[in-house]
Amino acid sequence: MRFHILTFGCQMNVADSDWLSQALISRGWTESAEEDAQVFLVTTCSVREKPEQKVYSLLGRLKGYADRDPAVFVGVGGCVAQQIGEEFWNRFPFVRLVFGTDGTAMVPQALERLVEDPALRVSLLDFLDHYPEREQPEEGRVGAQAFVNIMQGCDNFCAYCIVPFTRGRQKSRSSDAIAAECESLVRRGARELTLLGQNVNSYGQDGHGDGTTFASLLRRISAIPGLARLKFTTSHPKDIAPEVVAAFGELPNLSPQLHLPVQSGSDAMLKSMGRKYTRERYLGIVRDLRAACPHIALTTDIIVGFPGETQRDFEDTLELMRQVRYESSFSFKYSDRPGVRAEKMNFKVPEEEKARRLAVLQDLQNRITAEELESRVGAEVDVLVEGTSRMQDGAALFWRGRDGGGRIINFPSPLPDLTGKMIRVRILAAKKHSLTGETRGEPW
Ligand code: 5AD
Ligand code: SF4
Repeated sequence: MRFHILTFGCQMNVADSDWLSQALISRGWTESAEEDAQVFLVTTCSVREKPEQKVYSLLGRLKGYADRDPAVFVGVGGCVAQQIGEEFWNRFPFVRLVFGTDGTAMVPQALERLVEDPALRVSLLDFLDHYPEREQPEEGRVGAQAFVNIMQGCDNFCAYCIVPFTRGRQKSRSSDAIAAECESLVRRGARELTLLGQNVNSYGQDGHGDGTTFASLLRRISAIPGLARLKFTTSHPKDIAPEVVAAFGELPNLSPQLHLPVQSGSDAMLKSMGRKYTRERYLGIVRDLRAACPHIALTTDIIVGFPGETQRDFEDTLELMRQVRYESSFSFKYSDRPGVRAEKMNFKVPEEEKARRLAVLQDLQNRITAEELESRVGAEVDVLVEGTSRMQDGAALFWRGRDGGGRIINFPSPLPDLTGKMIRVRILAAKKHSLTGETRGEPW
């Protein structure tokens, strides 16, 4: 069978799609272009209004393929599937499979049954009370960068967030299973691993793990011979342990970067969002991180226009951004999500005001990003090469990769294939969102 996967949303969805693709290929299916596919899989996101709308317009497009060939069908997974469930079958009859995150492990078998029996529909939406292990391929080369799930779900119920409803309660995966997958990936060619979870800092604290803390998991994975880089996402500030902060100064292959969503710089907003930390506590964590690792690159998520946010609250957020000086940030206008606490809150901020605040904030971030990038000029950094660059200027071939802080770096090299290699680069100039440089020495 020929399949095509379309992925929306977070890195967890990207990792789920990668696994689905591998699992189907190992069953003899082939990945094809959209026009040639017999089966489509869509991993969906409902965290904000915009990504959710994108899913619906995509399904509108896929309907065209199903109209032309009735054997073509679609499986919809992820957060929108969990939310809408079997109602999908009424709205989009060519959708014959819906699956939530806990159901992903069973998708390959379900697809085989659906191909055999054209009258069948399958729903895999139940939440399980343990982390559902997936079959792991033991053979075959993998790319230089790989993602490893360490947990599923979230228990925090931040007032704006739909994730605890769509992904269920937090469930940690056993540390032995995580270590075995990481070791296998490094053996098969991975140089960089990213540990994934909705809130990795509370790994092991949900009664489903094996007593291992996140700090000790980091130490265990970091020690895998041949692992050049270790990263993790996402962190909740309220749960980051001092041992994890210290790890940035202790583990040589732990990348000096951290995505630490702050959401707002106003104590009043943090309180009504239910974030369980204050601005001062957050800034304290930032100070400790910089004491442990002076060049750590910090990034964040920010919501503007949360219900009740005043101009003063918003200015607190701008001031916090000036203090922390994030390398970059993802910022969003608050949008109502069905069933979350904030949906029922008073004092909603008008759409135009949210848009204005977002523009002001993004303008400030762009200036900080430019200054931070400029300050890297002259530095020598190790770059993990991801492929050829879009930036080509005729003479030598340009390559694109990232330094330990996650910054994008373009550089020319006449070497035939650098993809997946590490190479030392001296930074020569800063562009708006990236750096350019020249190589020093041989790749490894
Ligand atoms: N409205 C706007 N942004 C949201 N996020 C989550 N829920 C909402 C919402 N209802 C943002 C948060 C989170 C990121 C993944 O998406 O900033 O960290
Ligand atoms: Fe949503 Fe908060 Fe959980 Fe993050 S920690 S997934 S923002 S509820």
